[in-house]
Amino acid sequence: MAIHGLVYDVSKFMPDHPGGAHLLQDVAGKDASGEFEDALHSEQARSEEAIVLKGMLAGCEQQAESSASP
Ligand code: HEM
Repeated sequence: MAIHGLVYDVSKFMPDHPGGAHLLQDVAGKDASGEFEDALHSEQARSEEAIVLKGMLAGCEQQAESSASP
């Protein structure tokens, strides 16, 4: 999934997601920025280490630079 222009592999984190694996499954392969912010995630969620950064969506360089983590 992508959040704020950055693409993450969340497969290892999915079973541990406090909101449930199914929510992450629903946005697999999609831009989940809106859903992520709608859930008002904490600073702890934004520094989750079990998610793996894979890359950047084309054209999102500026958006990604302004958010060091999700
Ligand atoms: C990979 C990105 C994500 C991470 C690291 C993450 C992490 C977390 C963490 C740590 C919590 C516990 C509360 C908190 O600390 O804020 C949480 C709760 C929650 N997350 Fe996520 N989350 C991610 C993506 C998403 C997405 C895409 C959705 C919606 C589609 C979502 C929906 C929720 C909801 C609804 C809760 C509240 C669960 C409850 O309190 O019962 N999360 N998430």
